Amino acid sequence: MAHEEDALEHERASWKPSPGLAVAVPDPVQNPGLPPHRTRVTDQDPAAMKRAVRTVYTLFYLSLAGSIWAIAAYMLFPIESGRIIDIRHNNLFIGLGIGLALLALGLGAIHWSKAVMSDKEFIEPRHATRGRDTTREGAVEALREANEESGFGRRTAIRGSLIAALAASILPGITLFRGLAPENSEAHPDAGNPVALLSRTMWEPGMRLAHDPSGEPIRAADLTLGSAVHVIPAPLAELSHHDGYLEEKAKAIVLLMRLLPEQLPAEHNNLEWAYDGIVAYSKVCTHVGCPVALYEQQTHHLLCPCHQSQFDVSRSAAVIFGPAARPLPQLPITVDDEGYLVAQSDFHEPVGPSFWERH
Ligand code: FES
Repeated sequence: MAHEEDALEHERASWKPSPGLAVAVPDPVQNPGLPPHRTRVTDQDPAAMKRAVRTVYTLFYLSLAGSIWAIAAYMLFPIESGRIIDIRHNNLFIGLGIGLALLALGLGAIHWSKAVMSDKEFIEPRHATRGRDTTREGAVEALREANEESGFGRRTAIRGSLIAALAASILPGITLFRGLAPENSEAHPDAGNPVALLSRTMWEPGMRLAHDPSGEPIRAADLTLGSAVHVIPAPLAELSHHDGYLEEKAKAIVLLMRLLPEQLPAEHNNLEWAYDGIVAYSKVCTHVGCPVALYEQQTHHLLCPCHQSQFDVSRSAAVIFGPAARPLPQLPITVDDEGYLVAQSDFHEPVGPSFWERH
């Protein structure tokens, strides 16, 4: 033991910080030490100690009962009927069981540590965290021997198959998540296909652009220079929440801005998709889908408040800063006979964040 301490002393004495390494200065705050020890009732009175022990195991048994009740409730209150009342009962009684189990377990553990376990304070001096050279060499030697004896490094077929088996063993768990995906139905034929779902919005040729959320159509002449308007397809305002109002709005929402036509240079913009300096871009950030709602009139920059991606409206909403990987998709627009702004078509690419089939 004395020999080991000497070796540590020697290592500490010979250690020198390398250039650029921060060196801790002596701490000016004095250690206040531990507060004086106070004897507890359970230390002095054996009857109190017995009571405390009883309380602790009663709490643990209560926790056990809670867990058993949660399992029983799962069977006693099935949700297969799909009725809301059955789902409520199922959630309520399972939740009560699990809540009781966890609460009683926690209270029992706290009471055990505070009233029954020894409460003597121990001071354990810290030792150097770096192992001694001999220990480190020993560890390397042990690993080398284990490798030698198991043949892990030598038997490449076994090693490769083990790694493949380990990696594959987590895949069934991941695959089961597929079960959470919605199924196709007659009413929603693409419900189970996220790629198709994300690739289309409700915009159609001739559909009027309308104020969000009133649904009031927008005339090109009413749009002032420098303005930015939050826009939805006019028919969206008629949809109820039950008919998928939010789902459709989340994809179709658009920001409409009016610039001077000369602020949209032809080499950076598709002018056929704009009308007299008015352009419409998806409001859904191409990073992770936050609403890009801040428009800087002077610079023509759109800012996403979530992670500060910036898009330049005068250059087809190209990304000029931040983590977004793609420009905001543009909605081709024009005006109808009455001067109202209308879509020429749906977006020509999926809106929102990139996913596995679209980068
Ligand atoms: S969601 Fe827009 S920058 Fe992250």
